[in-house]
Amino acid sequence: MSGTPKKGEKGKGDKIFAVRRVSLRKTKAGKNYLDLLLANSEGEIVGRKWDVKSRDSLPEVGTVIVTEGKEDTYNDTPQWIMTKWKVADNKEREEAELVPSVGGDHEARWERLIEAAKGIKAEGLRGLTVALFEQNKESIMGATAAKMMHSAGRGGLMEHVDSLLTMAKGLGPQLEGVDSDLLVAGILLHDIGKIREMMCEPALDYTTEGRMLGHIVIGSMMIDEAAKKRGMPQEEVLPLLHLVVSHHGTKEFGSPVAPMTPEAVALHHLDSIDAKLNAMSGSKEKGLFWHNNLRQFVFLSQEVSNSQGESPVDSGSESNRTASKEEEAPSTPRTPTHQGEKEPKDTPLPKEESGGLF
Ligand SMILES: [Fe+2]
Ligand SMILES: [Fe+2]
Repeated sequence: MSGTPKKGEKGKGDKIFAVRRVSLRKTKAGKNYLDLLLANSEGEIVGRKWDVKSRDSLPEVGTVIVTEGKEDTYNDTPQWIMTKWKVADNKEREEAELVPSVGGDHEARWERLIEAAKGIKAEGLRGLTVALFEQNKESIMGATAAKMMHSAGRGGLMEHVDSLLTMAKGLGPQLEGVDSDLLVAGILLHDIGKIREMMCEPALDYTTEGRMLGHIVIGSMMIDEAAKKRGMPQEEVLPLLHLVVSHHGTKEFGSPVAPMTPEAVALHHLDSIDAKLNAMSGSKEKGLFWHNNLRQFVFLSQEVSNSQGESPVDSGSESNRTASKEEEAPSTPRTPTHQGEKEPKDTPLPKEESGGLF
């Protein structure tokens, strides 16, 4: 088996995956089969291998495997039926595309974000934001904004933050009464915890710390620690921490407190708009259907053709996304999210955790 898919029959050939979940199950006839959750840059897919002998070795979670098989569907859910598998060697791992990358110029996006941080007038907030960005440059540039919803893939966190900055600029006079320094710092730092909450290797997934604490807590810890090192007074840090902890809006979505300052209200709604519209625009399903990640019915009547990053006020801005939506959208996970019109029962794949929505 080689590491790259063979050309030829559609959906058939060799594919490399990171292994997310492994279980050995029995068919009704009592035969063993492998039930896997596999992931690569195209998203997640259920894997099956029939007729597994009890002496056969099993793939291990977290490893990368080269498989030979073909794509099939069962109950409207795509699955990869494997005939052979082996652990990928170093070369195959290096060549494999296991993690998607969001479109656009990542370097240019980084420059826009760091310039926004340097443009904060309040000295304390500026110093803190610039320091956290510069100290974590590599992680921020590689970070995803989500596992399988909005801006999923390398560079997704920057894409998301860049989009919020563009939207905030577009609000113009509506931001009267809002401390723009605080809002910009909040936009830049609200999801900084995602650099530790999620990992891109060997495939997009949550870290143990991410699962146990979530990015709101991790981000608050990072900011608190950095602020203490810089000797920032509590009254200066508190409003920023409030933006971070309240940005998901409600306890149901992982925020311990609701937004209670103008900046926090603005950040929460900007965050929600970007996350939800991005999730909708990345959806291939049209019409009325249950969107698992948004956890509601949605109605999508047509392709969304305009770039979501465009602001009617700032349409010529360099920060607007220039690629078409098709190029920009992260690979849609092959999950039941886009299958069927009713909330699927017994969905074999995990839904996005509540903390991962925004
Ligand atoms: Fe966010
Ligand atoms: Fe968030």
